[in-house]
Amino acid sequence: MRTLIKHVLARTEGSDSLEVAGWVRTRRDSKAFSFIELNDGSCLGNLQIVADAGIPGYEDVAKMTTGASVCVSGKLVPSPAKGQDWEMQAVSVRLIGTAPEDYPLQKKGHTPEFLRSIAHLRPRTNLFGAAFRVRSRMAYAVHRFFQERDFVYMHTPIITASDCEGAGEMFRVTSLPDDKIGKDAEDFFGKRAYLTVSGQLEGEATACALSNIYTFGPTFRAENSNTSRHAAEFWMVEPEMAFCDLAGDMDVAEEMLRFLVKEALADPDLAIFEKFVDKGLRERLEGVLGKPFVRISYTDAVKLLEESGKDFQYPVKYGLNLQSEHERWLTEEHFKQPVIVFNYPKEIKPFYMRLNDDGKTVTAMDVLVPGIGEIIGGSQREERYDVLLENFKQHGIDAEAYGWYADLRKYGTVPHAGFGLGFERLLMFVTGISNIRDVIPFPRTPGHCEY
Ligand code: 4AD
Ligand code: MG
Repeated sequence: MRTLIKHVLARTEGSDSLEVAGWVRTRRDSKAFSFIELNDGSCLGNLQIVADAGIPGYEDVAKMTTGASVCVSGKLVPSPAKGQDWEMQAVSVRLIGTAPEDYPLQKKGHTPEFLRSIAHLRPRTNLFGAAFRVRSRMAYAVHRFFQERDFVYMHTPIITASDCEGAGEMFRVTSLPDDKIGKDAEDFFGKRAYLTVSGQLEGEATACALSNIYTFGPTFRAENSNTSRHAAEFWMVEPEMAFCDLAGDMDVAEEMLRFLVKEALADPDLAIFEKFVDKGLRERLEGVLGKPFVRISYTDAVKLLEESGKDFQYPVKYGLNLQSEHERWLTEEHFKQPVIVFNYPKEIKPFYMRLNDDGKTVTAMDVLVPGIGEIIGGSQREERYDVLLENFKQHGIDAEAYGWYADLRKYGTVPHAGFGLGFERLLMFVTGISNIRDVIPFPRTPGHCEY
């Protein structure tokens, strides 16, 4: 049985016979033997193979070039070389697949742009290998956080007829042939359908039965914003809690973020990001654990921004959305820690948020973190039937199509709240990687849908 290199490198004693397999990173030859650095993607480290001339398979050693796949059996022995505990003295080597000279990852030090153009090969680099292992472990940590707290994992639909955020940034889903596009009644569902922008609305329906639920799945936005923080396809973590208000919502968001950052700090792959991506990474992450997050109302945040004396590109005024530069000023320059901004003007937020007693603001909350800006968006939901129907009117929502959603307020309504964590924004935050395209294995952004 093949052993993953991760487990080989973690051994505390040698072993007489082990089999490993992976891709050659480098090879050095002398007359009597070859050194092969082998990596199988299970961890950052390579296993050094010492292959003596004459062992079975050695006749192919010249073809074991960078990128070639190789299987080795041998003995694990303490390594005399610096920086590694173990090496493998090969008993036999077997070439599995060659990698000709045009293998694009011959040399190190490629630009992120070039690596994006070979997304099918970039997981074989140290940095991307680490990024995707962290992605996997953080996904697992998300599930652990919620499962340990008795949240029920809901699979909300990917194809939907609702526009949760009401922003009209939906991808249409159709099975009509080209000449029938637009004839909605003849379409697969007999009406227009879209890829979901959020699982929230269906999440609310299940929370209003199971108390605490979460969804964690892909979401889609046809936003034409070509920024380093927006993707057309991204993953969102969306808990929804019944019998919960805005303060409770913020508490869960804060506790979750701390839990995930703690996990990231213990991740074996963090070191490479600290070394090559962001020297201040660990300090920034530890800053999240230090003190409670700042909580400030939108109104007060706008005041601070107005009084900052900063020359922002976008205007700051009560009633306007906070732009990324404003969010980053608050969290990076002013408070220098995570900040939760709450109670936004109702006009700039979706129909489902609960109207405050002032009649002007809604119970929205955004969590902002240094280096990213908004990482979480959430709210307490409007649980009052009449007020919700009024919101439908003001936001131009078809009350009939959302009748099921209003029903939740008609039958056994409860205060409830939830939020959405952008999973890729979390990954950018915990790795320091500054472009969302580099934390998604196969990113989709405007003009890009390769693979
Ligand atoms: O603030 P948003 O739009 O909130 C919602 O969708 C709510 N329905 C969530 C809820 O209350 N259940 O999105 C939530 C988060 C943002 O804070 C951001 O981190 C991320 O999703 N996000 C994106 N991430 C990558 N690319 C995009 N285009 C994103 N749009 C939002
Ligand atoms: Mg938002």
